[in-house]
Amino acid sequence: MKKKLFIKTYGCQMNVYDSNRMADVMKPHGYETVESPDEADLVVLNTCHIREKAAEKVYSDVGRIRMIKEERCAAGGAEMTIAVAGCVAQAEGAEMMKRAPVIDLVLGPQTYHRLPELVRSAEAGRKNGKPAHLLDTEFPSESKFDFLPEESDLQGPAAFLAVQEGCDKFCTFCVVPYTRGAEYSRPVADLMKEARRLVSKGVRDITLLGQNVNAYHGDDGNGGTGSLGGLIRSLAEIDGLARIRYTTSHPTDMDDALISAHRDVAACMPYLHLPVQSGSDRILAAMNRKHTAESYLDVIRRLRDARPDLALSSDFIVGFPGEKDEDFEATMALVREVGYAQSFSFKYSARPGTPASVMPFQVPEDVKSERLAALQALLSEQQLAFNEACLGKTLEVLVERPGKRPGELVGRSPYLQAVHIDVTGSDYTLDEGTVPTYSDLMGQMVRVEIRDAGPGNLRGVIAA
Ligand code: SAH
Ligand code: SF4
Ligand code: F3S
Repeated sequence: MKKKLFIKTYGCQMNVYDSNRMADVMKPHGYETVESPDEADLVVLNTCHIREKAAEKVYSDVGRIRMIKEERCAAGGAEMTIAVAGCVAQAEGAEMMKRAPVIDLVLGPQTYHRLPELVRSAEAGRKNGKPAHLLDTEFPSESKFDFLPEESDLQGPAAFLAVQEGCDKFCTFCVVPYTRGAEYSRPVADLMKEARRLVSKGVRDITLLGQNVNAYHGDDGNGGTGSLGGLIRSLAEIDGLARIRYTTSHPTDMDDALISAHRDVAACMPYLHLPVQSGSDRILAAMNRKHTAESYLDVIRRLRDARPDLALSSDFIVGFPGEKDEDFEATMALVREVGYAQSFSFKYSARPGTPASVMPFQVPEDVKSERLAALQALLSEQQLAFNEACLGKTLEVLVERPGKRPGELVGRSPYLQAVHIDVTGSDYTLDEGTVPTYSDLMGQMVRVEIRDAGPGNLRGVIAA
């Protein structure tokens, strides 16, 4: 009998990757993933601790799942095991099970390879329906990557590949160095092997993941350490791998090897997420970002020299402790100077245990809201302008999935824009004169003439 596994993922792309790995590790133990917790034997909440709201959401979800579990128990149905994984698990540990005793087990991001054993122990240790309350938030000496199975179910032609994890930067607002631990880079040879395997299964677009991906310094197999620029060059040699992306980068780790990869490697996509957080040097220093507005702009100039069509995105925090109107204005000025294709902006959220949470001059909520609205208005304007600049152009689009409307396909442009392709409205046909369907074009690169541009996506037809 197959067992059913439901995983809910919160937070960043690394968590999306990790959730897939947890599904992989449970599969040989008879678990298949399902889309809802209703029938699940095992529920995993893969959590995010980055902002207060994200962390609190987990407890309301646990409450909902508890209801499902209790109703099912009352009806004489199967037991449900509830596991909390991810960054809230790492940060709060056993506290979670005190606050929500229905949770069976809590495990941190570095112990996913132990999930099958933990689940088995949780099931065996349950007494009269009372959870055993297991905790594994160690940072083990072994790397989980050496123990996770190779096989995984892939969805579509784009995939993530974790190359680096953890962070040694300690920005004063951020929990990631505490929840993910110290920087670790996977060996080049392992990554080449995993990338080849992905490509052999039809993947054409790989996004290299790391909390600090451009600090990558994995073992190069020759007694030295590799760099992200070097890794990208090696990956680009793999036949069939058309696109390479990476996220998230820190401005101070954008070295020449990486910048030149943007110039020399055709597969290295002209889109870069390079978070700046603030445009004020005073605030950047208080954030311990280790860069200034000017040094950030200098990196962007070097990148644009190497790759003139490079599109940029960033993260911003407004209302960091001590942020004054003139600091916020400096952020707005930097945004105007760079011109972003896409961005993510947040109100500062005080996180327990971080240095910024106890800094004086915390900014009032209404000031934060006002600044966020002004910043987001400017960023949305820039995003629309970037998309509108694509009108009339022909872009290479990698087809990823069918669209909602009949005859529509959805893919990604080199700049990571979602592109809706109207296949029936295109003059393009297959050799026999038939209109291509999703299965003809899935995973293919097609040239799309852009006819329509909105804030969140582009529309077009296949170029003849
Ligand atoms: N380098 C990381 C960044 C993780 S956090 C990565 O790999 O993605 C993503 C973004 O969340 C940060 O860039 C920052 O803008 C935002 N963020 C982090 N801590 C925050 C906090 N305490 N309050 C508000 N936003 C925060
Ligand atoms: Fe957090 Fe800063 Fe590390 Fe990014 S670089 S994960 S923001 S500490
Ligand atoms: Fe959140 Fe952890 Fe990612 S705190 S953003 S899930 S690294």
